[in-house]
Amino acid sequence: MPCIERAQVISNSQVSSDLFEMELKAPQIVPLCKPGQFIHLRVSSQYDPLLRRPLSLYDVDRQQNTITLLYKVVGKGTEILSRTKSGEYLDIMGPLGRAFSWPQPGQSALLVGGGVGIAPLLFLTRELLEQGYKVKVLYGAQSSQDLAALNRFRRLGAEVWPATMDGKTGYPGLVTDLLKEQLSIQKTGDWFIYTCGPEPMMAQVAAYAHEYGLKGEVSLEENMACGVGACLGCARQLKSSDKSYVKVCKDGPVFALQEVELNPS
Ligand SMILES: Cc1cc2nc3c(=O)[nH]c(=O)nc-3n(C[C@H](O)[C@H](O)[C@H](O)COP(=O)(O)OP(=O)(O)OC[C@H]3O[C@@H](n4cnc5c(N)ncnc54)[C@H](O)[C@@H]3O)c2cc1C
Ligand code: FES
Repeated sequence: MPCIERAQVISNSQVSSDLFEMELKAPQIVPLCKPGQFIHLRVSSQYDPLLRRPLSLYDVDRQQNTITLLYKVVGKGTEILSRTKSGEYLDIMGPLGRAFSWPQPGQSALLVGGGVGIAPLLFLTRELLEQGYKVKVLYGAQSSQDLAALNRFRRLGAEVWPATMDGKTGYPGLVTDLLKEQLSIQKTGDWFIYTCGPEPMMAQVAAYAHEYGLKGEVSLEENMACGVGACLGCARQLKSSDKSYVKVCKDGPVFALQEVELNPS
């Protein structure tokens, strides 16, 4: 069961031109958290904006009872959030949504994240490594400065391969081209794929997974209101041929790669 908690802001700092990291103390929610889930937070105690904003669990420290968020400033809510000071309290609800599942025994994990879509993959990496899985992370960003999570992955001891469009760090170009290269080199690898990022990127990841006969999971984003399956605000068809709709907040945000039709453009 998710809880609602007044969480104290431990820190809130800018880590790239438009990305911020916020650490929150949330002793009630932390023990329940699983990778892939999200919290739904009120960005201020004012009535505007009224609706909560969903943010992924970027990292969770079970000893310190803290949750770290990585967020991009895109509108009013995240702009207000970016001005929150340490010591203030935020009303957060969570953890919400369906978590990632584990690879089958003997499989390794191949994670592909783009931009701020890397957020749910850090906590996943932490827990996969703790469970003894081999983990490879492909991390795409526009430029070297945008690779805000890179050092956190390195500190976890993960094998992380950056790809940047400016070509200054790691593979020069799209992270999906790096994925294609890795898959063609390691044809025999039994990988379980996890992906989160811009939809065209995830569509390409799904296409390569299909080509190489690999299974995996995708984390989807939709505008959300209630966050708990009550309002239909996040309803979407997984495939255009589907008669029924899923609620991304409750049935997801994590879905099997094969069950989702992703828009490649
Ligand atoms: C399950 C889930 C996890 C998420 N995790 C993260 C995360 O870890 N880090 C992060 O930076 N963002 C994440 N998002 C997106 C984040 O919730 C939105 O960027 C945020 O709510 C925007 O609020 P705002 O008030 O700043 O922008 P608004 O003023 O509400 O909107 C500004 C622009 O962002 C778009 N937008 C708003 N909400 C969403 C949304 N939910 N998905 C996609 N586009 C949206 C709007 O259509 C508009 O174009 C997540 C979304 C979901 C559904
Ligand atoms: S946001 Fe209300 S049902 Fe998903």
